[in-house]
Amino acid sequence: MMERCGIVLAGGTGSRLYPVTVSLSKQLLPIHDKPMIYYPISILMLANIRDILLISTPRDIGLFERLLGDGSQFGLHFSYAVQPYPNGLAEAYLIGEKFLNGRPSCLVLGDNLLYGHSLSATLNKAAQKKHGATIFGYHVSNPSAYGVVEFDQSMKVVSIEEKPAQPKSSFAVPGIYFYDGRASIFASQLKPSARGELEITDLNKKYLEEGSLEVELLGRGIAWLDTGTHDLLYDASLFVKTIEQRQGLKIGCLEEIAYHKGWIGPQELRSQIEKMGNSTYSTYLRHLLEAPRSAV
Ligand code: DAU
Repeated sequence: MMERCGIVLAGGTGSRLYPVTVSLSKQLLPIHDKPMIYYPISILMLANIRDILLISTPRDIGLFERLLGDGSQFGLHFSYAVQPYPNGLAEAYLIGEKFLNGRPSCLVLGDNLLYGHSLSATLNKAAQKKHGATIFGYHVSNPSAYGVVEFDQSMKVVSIEEKPAQPKSSFAVPGIYFYDGRASIFASQLKPSARGELEITDLNKKYLEEGSLEVELLGRGIAWLDTGTHDLLYDASLFVKTIEQRQGLKIGCLEEIAYHKGWIGPQELRSQIEKMGNSTYSTYLRHLLEAPRSAV
């Protein structure tokens, strides 16, 4: 099988966060000690995906390039593409068609933060699947703000709806999607929804209709945090800060993940330490050099 690649979609207007995002991409805002985009990238890394296309707006793409470069400092390879207008999440599969070149992929939204017990195993299981798609279901208190999956008695998926006024279940679909190599073909068959967007929910429906959509439930041990409003942004920062302070371990530290996976060595880590100046992030990276590689 061709190796699975990743897409991080980090465009949109961020208008729900104005004035914070009038001049800056939402996905570059800090979640405690690092830019938001680090968290979805870490998700791809945990799924062992290293070839990644980052899509953002014409205004912001340069800032992502400046932040992330070619990705080699994280043992990754980044490519960049522009989404001229926020025409919907599924458009990522039209913009990314050449990059994908028929490969299986994982799309992750640049503002989604997932953290918790056995997440790596769950992601790797989805990444192994050769045919069809895997998405996830997560119990939330406000399902109508999301894509919602409905199950029958035997937990088989019956329907998926985008932001239904009357949700048929409490299971929302987080912004991480695994597709086989046909996603761009399916995306090219989609029509804009009533709100004028190519909906990721409609792409998922294509797989559902042919019986190849799997929905894995993410349990209580996993935190899926939204960052869509000022309050949620603050909550996400506080969540990361609380866990990081208690454990002395970082969430979404890309150098750490790469180092533990053996994708970068002490040399690359040292040069990142230099680049991070006198920040606490740099101090954390320095400790990694001193600790045994896979102590935690
Ligand atoms: O977060 C998970 C949810 O994401 C799913 O449950 C929904 O099914 C899915 O439609 C999406 O819902 P949102 O309401 O969160 O979508 P939103 O329009 O806010 O876009 C999500 C992120 O993607 C946001 O950071 C902006 C970015 N984006 C959005 C659009 C429409 C793009 O980069 N390009 C776009 O065209």
